[in-house]
Amino acid sequence: MENRQVVKVLTLDDFDLKGKTVFLRVDMNCPIDPETLEISGTKRIEESVETLNSLKESKVVIGSHQGRVGNNEYAGMDKHAKVLEKLMNREIKYVEDTIGEAAQNAIKDLEGGEILLLDNLRLCAEENYEFTPENAAKTIMVSRLSKLFDLCVLDSFPSAHRSHPSIVGFPQVLPACAGRIVEREVRNLDEIITVAKAPHVIVLGGSKIPDRLEAIKLLIQNCRADHVLLTGLIGNVFMRAQARLKSPMGIKREEEVVAKAHSLIGEYPDVFATPVDIAVDKDGERMEMDVREMGKGDKIFDLGPKTVEYYSRLIAGAGTVFISGPAGFFEKESFSYGTKALLNSVANSMATTIVSGGHLTTALKQQGLDGKINHVSTAGGALVLYLTGEKLPMIRALEDAAMKHKSR
Ligand code: 3PG
Repeated sequence: MENRQVVKVLTLDDFDLKGKTVFLRVDMNCPIDPETLEISGTKRIEESVETLNSLKESKVVIGSHQGRVGNNEYAGMDKHAKVLEKLMNREIKYVEDTIGEAAQNAIKDLEGGEILLLDNLRLCAEENYEFTPENAAKTIMVSRLSKLFDLCVLDSFPSAHRSHPSIVGFPQVLPACAGRIVEREVRNLDEIITVAKAPHVIVLGGSKIPDRLEAIKLLIQNCRADHVLLTGLIGNVFMRAQARLKSPMGIKREEEVVAKAHSLIGEYPDVFATPVDIAVDKDGERMEMDVREMGKGDKIFDLGPKTVEYYSRLIAGAGTVFISGPAGFFEKESFSYGTKALLNSVANSMATTIVSGGHLTTALKQQGLDGKINHVSTAGGALVLYLTGEKLPMIRALEDAAMKHKSR
């Protein structure tokens, strides 16, 4: 992994923050328990505390998204405000609005040292679209709110790959800098990328299939993936493409993503590894079987031991390992085996190691393995894309803001 991204961005240390009204874009997009509708992992909220502590003398307006419109995790930010309040042991103001009069009045009413959390930014339609930075600056969100801010702090590294108005629009019209999370992620990742050695082994799970397919292609093309070991839903997509899974998976744009996986396998036949055995749910019990023994209605919930052994051998021979996304239905103890076993192999390898995403960072901590990994990040898709060497929209926005600042 050569060609580290040379990033020159401003940080909070470059600004006099006292009394300033600051828009802080964080990523508090957390897992939500489908039954209780409660936040089931608060790691991303915990991470925001460091930057908030650096902004103690400012009037802070936090903006974040939660889920995607229409999915199970799409929700308001009221619960996040409560979690943050507990973590910081102080009042966090919350307004059920994003860009309307209520939000604007709440921002104007802030006193020095106060923190206000806006509602889910994706309630504002514009935040669900990708824009060029110039067009993002013309959105109603940016034109209405930017008048109320002195500075924009970008700290949502997990969404650094999105060119949404709150990420690339505000820095066009306001001074902008990186928060502590972005500062640390970029510094650590660039250090790792500089020393990273081949073979590069990428272990990929997760469910955002179109994003994953795009990233896989870039990783291979940019010589950052010698072996791609597939797990989770993306593993199933590749097994469908190999005609090893007979039943449709019932996912969005299924034929299209399977066709893409098929053409990737054709283009790079020696790169991909897919599961040989799996675990299914039989009347509430874990049942392991070879992939070829699967029946029509069987749904994959985890990897089997042969796959774990096969993948662990490739991990043991790696110079660099990057693992992202759970290997199965990790939330359920009986299906957490694959995720835990692969994390164990990564932690005990001699390679330079990166663990990415909320589920894996939680599992790592539960196993007491976090100290054995070179870099642990709550970011998922953004981190995968960062490793491809592509410049992410947020990083570009921060670099442009730094250039503008210097030429003033
Ligand atoms: C993530 O969890 O990957 C980020 O919060 C980005 O979310 P998105 O893929 O819905 O834009």
